Amino acid sequence: MTPIVPPFPANRPRRLRRTQALRSMVRENTLTPEDFIWPVFIQAGKDAETPVPSMPGVTRKTVDRIVLAAKEAHNLGIPAICLFPYTGMEDRTEDCAMAWDPNNLTNQAIRAIKDAVPEIAVMTDIALDPYNINGHDGFVEGDTIVNDRTVEALVKMALAQAEAGADILGPSDMMDGRIGALRTALEAEGHQDVTILSYAAKFASAFYGPFRDAVGASGALKGDKNTYQIDPANRETALRAVARDIGEGADMVMVKPGLPYLDICREVRDTFAVPTFAYQVSGEYAMVQAAAQNGWVDHDRVMMESLLCFKRAGCDGILTYFAPAAARLLNG
Ligand code: PBG
Repeated sequence: MTPIVPPFPANRPRRLRRTQALRSMVRENTLTPEDFIWPVFIQAGKDAETPVPSMPGVTRKTVDRIVLAAKEAHNLGIPAICLFPYTGMEDRTEDCAMAWDPNNLTNQAIRAIKDAVPEIAVMTDIALDPYNINGHDGFVEGDTIVNDRTVEALVKMALAQAEAGADILGPSDMMDGRIGALRTALEAEGHQDVTILSYAAKFASAFYGPFRDAVGASGALKGDKNTYQIDPANRETALRAVARDIGEGADMVMVKPGLPYLDICREVRDTFAVPTFAYQVSGEYAMVQAAAQNGWVDHDRVMMESLLCFKRAGCDGILTYFAPAAARLLNG
């Protein structure tokens, strides 16, 4: 559609910007708490929280506190919470067996949330990095992060999460063929209604730095993730990855990181017309917090503007550490 734009003075766009009422009448996109998925970090223990220094305002929480967070999120109108376990070196092994332990931190938290706040959707992370001795998302043999053996382990991890009651599985590992393998296994094991939100266009990004501190991976990680995550220079590669994951049975797809990749968000939405989410990652969050703490930007306005821009770029929702703060502002 080609817009008809008459010449000045018939066209004075400022007429529609003159008052708050007029501006709100012609606003094209809006933000609500229903747009958010809140990522949270779980730690072992009881009734405790530990601040994450590189993510001011974010804490790791014990399972009982995660349940309180889930209640808070539900009361704020946030539809989903996404769980990431903090693990120390003592939880990490070469075989990553803790990843599919029915009693690992994630699976404990899923059960506890589903028990206390069954209405909220619980999303999980599927990747071996919290339990891997070398911090990688897949098994390492020599210098190689091996694909097919990793996918078999991811399937076990996913089934344990589905068994615990997860609503949304989030494979963030970027191994090839994992979506198809997960979908087949879920169907075979009676979990046909568990949804997959694939980290389909996940780029090898330096913006994940603070997250790796939050989950205890920074010290563990040997090398980088460039042999499995997508090169930030590559747009067509990302589109092919999204196409493949939809073809293998992903219900929803994600672009990650968020703000530097809004072009990919828009293109994914326009090309595939499937529910599309963006992950405003830890480094993006940290930059806003740091600038706001210095008084260099207005915290609330920058937070809300950054979130609204995901909607303008075509996203159905945003994974964001700002979820509760932004929801509180929206709810007045
Ligand atoms: C690991 C995983 C990462 C994030 C989510 N899942 C980090 C990585 O790929 O190294 C990053 C999230 C963030 O930075 O907020 N599977």
